[in-house]
Parts: sequence; structure tokens; C-alpha cells
Amino acid sequence: MKHLLSAADLDHDEAVAVLDAAERMAATQAREIKKLPTLRGQTVVNLFFEDSTRTRISFETAAKRLSADVINFSPKGSSVSKGESLKDTVLTLGAMRADAIVVRHPASGAPSRIAGSTWTDASVITAGDGTHQHPTQALLDAMTIRRHLKAGAGDLAGRDLAGLSVMIVGDVLHSRVARSGVDLFTTLGAEVTLVAPATLLPVGVETWPAARFYDLDRALAEAPPDALMMLRVQRERMSSAGGGFFPSPQEYTREYGLDARRAAALAPHAIVLHPGPMNRGLEITSEAADGPRSVVVEQVANGVAVRMAVLYLAMTGEKEPAV
Ligand code: NCD
Repeated sequence: MKHLLSAADLDHDEAVAVLDAAERMAATQAREIKKLPTLRGQTVVNLFFEDSTRTRISFETAAKRLSADVINFSPKGSSVSKGESLKDTVLTLGAMRADAIVVRHPASGAPSRIAGSTWTDASVITAGDGTHQHPTQALLDAMTIRRHLKAGAGDLAGRDLAGLSVMIVGDVLHSRVARSGVDLFTTLGAEVTLVAPATLLPVGVETWPAARFYDLDRALAEAPPDALMMLRVQRERMSSAGGGFFPSPQEYTREYGLDARRAAALAPHAIVLHPGPMNRGLEITSEAADGPRSVVVEQVANGVAVRMAVLYLAMTGEKEPAV
């Protein structure tokens, strides 16, 4: 794997192999010395044209745990604010011999444009492009789901998500997390259900390999999930507060929010995920976000292991980690 641009690039066995590699990486993180020498002498550039807390810090942590040097680039304070193009920015990074470029960009397709160009021969990893893809988020979600719901059978290695039902609720329209998740979870054999008001589902959603509901309580009753993923309402991608996508925040919360009542009605083994950042009180109440089913903090921890695995596989060209 030279690049990871989209969750759809991974076939079933490749996806399972990345999850297995992430488990191996996670095991190294329980050691007293967490740092591995594997990527010593290599340079990872975090090229983030959009704000991020956990994804950028997670990639930085992952690269450093593998002993790579890390350069964090953001357009504020750089020549991008003087109008420098993506091409010239990447040519500059290429000239500095970056070995991997982790890209977050508001334009869907920007990472693919870089990977397909002659501007650099670095590995390119998508860290969120517009409403398109966020493959390492889908992988960390799959890792979290697999750990919770597939561990009963013994060793996790080689296991997929077959037989599990994953429900994704909320602002699917603006969500690269939803798109990547639908791709990866179905590749791994899970059933995916989307729940959203019609205004927050994209054109063409009927061609996605996922069932659809417009009513959350009905969906929870008719297609009870093993894993329930709440999406952030992406107000920055809407023109005004609700942008006309829903009547009011109160109504959104009433119809589509996860509260203690809905969380308590889930199957006893079911888990609740959220990619963060959470709008507490809008798509999820604090009681549900901090409740016994919530795996939100584990998702963040698993993100480091997944990104270690992806950087390792992309930058070394190996099929599995020797760690
Ligand atoms: C997500 C993103 O940026 O796409 N956040 C993240 O990476 N953890 C989801 C979001 O912003 O809602």
C-alpha cells in the first residue's frame, strides 16, 4: 500500500490486514517504551488545510511513536495565505524530501490530486477531504467495533465485521466519516443503516449499500444496531445555524439526538461511537456521551494504533509489521 486515499481502496483482506497491523501496534503501546525505531530517518508532513484537533495530534503521535520526524504545516502563517497554490505547496514539500504527506483539505479529491501528480513521490494519506473520505477514521471505528463485538471468539486476528449491524445517525450529507464508514464496514461484511432527515442525506444515497430510515426510534426498533455511530451536525458546512436543514436544534435533538432514554433501550452489548468533536446537547447528550456504552475515548486511543499501522504499511511497503 503506497497511498491510502479512500476506504474504498481497501478490499476485504487488505482491510482486515490493516486492522490486524493496528492490533500489533496497539500491543507495542502497552510496553514501557512506546517508541519503535521503524521509521527513523523518514519525514512525515501533516498538511492540514482545515482545522483539526484529534486527527492531527493522532497522526503526529503515531509518526513519532515510529521515530519519524514530523513537520506540521497549516495554511495560517504560511504562504498559502499569500495565495500559494496546492501544487506549489506540495512541490516545496517534495523538494524537502517528505516521505509521507498526510492531507486534510476542504476540497474533495485534493489528496488524490496530489497522489496522482508528479509534484512529489511521497506516500499520500487522506486525513479528511471535503465531504468525501476519511479512511483512517473508518479504520479506527472498525477497530473499536471489532474489539468490542468480536473479541468473544478469541484471537481478533483475521476477523471481519460479518454479522454485525452498524447504524450511522445524523448529518450524513456533510460527513466524510459516514462515507468512509459505509465503504469500509460493508467491505468487512457488516450491515449498515443510515438514519437522518431527508435534508441531511445526499443525492444518490439510494445507490449506497446501506438501508435508510428517516425516523430514529423506528430504526432502533426495527433494525437494532450492535454499534450506533452518532455524527456531528456540521454547522460550518451549512450557511446559517441550521442552514434550513432542520427546523431548530431542539427539534433535531428530539428527533435524532442520542439521549439516556434511547441509549438505555439499546441491546445490552451495543456500543455508542462518535468521531468527535461532539456537539454535546445537540446530536448527543452528555449522559449518553459519558455513559457506559460510549467508546468515544477508546476511539481516540485506537486512532493512534491505526495511524501507526497505516504509516508503517505505506512507508515501508511491508505487508505486516515486524514490531
Ligand atoms: C471528523 C472530520 O473531521 O471529518 N472528525 C474527526 O476527524 N475526528 C468528523 C467531524 O468533524 O464531524
